[in-house]
Amino acid sequence: MGQITRDASHNNAASAFPGGDKERYVRDMFAAIAPQYDRLNAILSFKQDRQWRRLAVRLSNVRPGDSCLDVCTGTGDFAVDLSNAVGTTGKVIGADFCEPMIRHGMNKVMRAGGAPIKMMVANAEHLPYASKQFDVVTVGFGIRNVAGIQKAVSEMARVARPGGRVVILEFNRPPAVWYKPFVDFYIFNVLPRIGGLFSRREAYTYLPESMKKFVSREELSSIMQKAGLTDIKLRDLNFGSVCIHIGTKPAEDVTEGSAR
Ligand SMILES: C[S@@+](CC[C@H](N)C(=O)[O-])C[C@H]1O[C@@H](n2cnc3c(N)ncnc32)[C@H](O)[C@@H]1O
Repeated sequence: MGQITRDASHNNAASAFPGGDKERYVRDMFAAIAPQYDRLNAILSFKQDRQWRRLAVRLSNVRPGDSCLDVCTGTGDFAVDLSNAVGTTGKVIGADFCEPMIRHGMNKVMRAGGAPIKMMVANAEHLPYASKQFDVVTVGFGIRNVAGIQKAVSEMARVARPGGRVVILEFNRPPAVWYKPFVDFYIFNVLPRIGGLFSRREAYTYLPESMKKFVSREELSSIMQKAGLTDIKLRDLNFGSVCIHIGTKPAEDVTEGSAR
């Protein structure tokens, strides 16, 4: 069994995650659904989630030998895809603040064919890594759950090296198109019911609720810009219900100072 590393500065459950109730709620919820998370993901997305992550990895332009960080890594699916892309000469860290999610992904992570993956318990809003060290920093279906989105995106930008990319794969709501009501119906009516059949219902009523409250694709682009990222590119998937944002940290580091 592989080892899970703890960020020593966030060791104590009570004091580790400052910022209030959302953090505790989200961490407890994912701890409760961790055993079913992978299965539910596959069911709710009709197994498309794997393709979405792989596409995001491809669009990130990651290369063999690169160093990558996946925040809100959960059971490590994005980290595994990054590991395969960077190969044995690369380096991948998966970080999440919910240890049960990490633990349930460990078998899968240990079987990854490329770079060894180091799994760490760490908060996206307080990343325990030095600035400017990762070629690619990703987050998959995680940023919506973070209490301080701007803080987390700024942290991701801080630890990316100049010229490195920050990739955000997340649900979003489609723009005003004719099929928007159908997508909304699926999100707000079908999804929680299917989720509730297999898991603690609350976890899958949380999903549409969190999507309602989540920022728009344009607002997320602004958040990335505010974090000092440039050249923001967007790719809509699944009728606009899923969105990939990719930003680049400028070669000349203008994010330093704004990140903390
Ligand atoms: C929906 S899961 C996504 C897991 C995985 N990235 C994937 O693609 O399937 C969201 C994850 O974000 C984590 N998370 C939420 N807020 C966090 C934070 N502030 N710091 C670290 N992890 C966080 C949760 O613990 C959970 O594992």
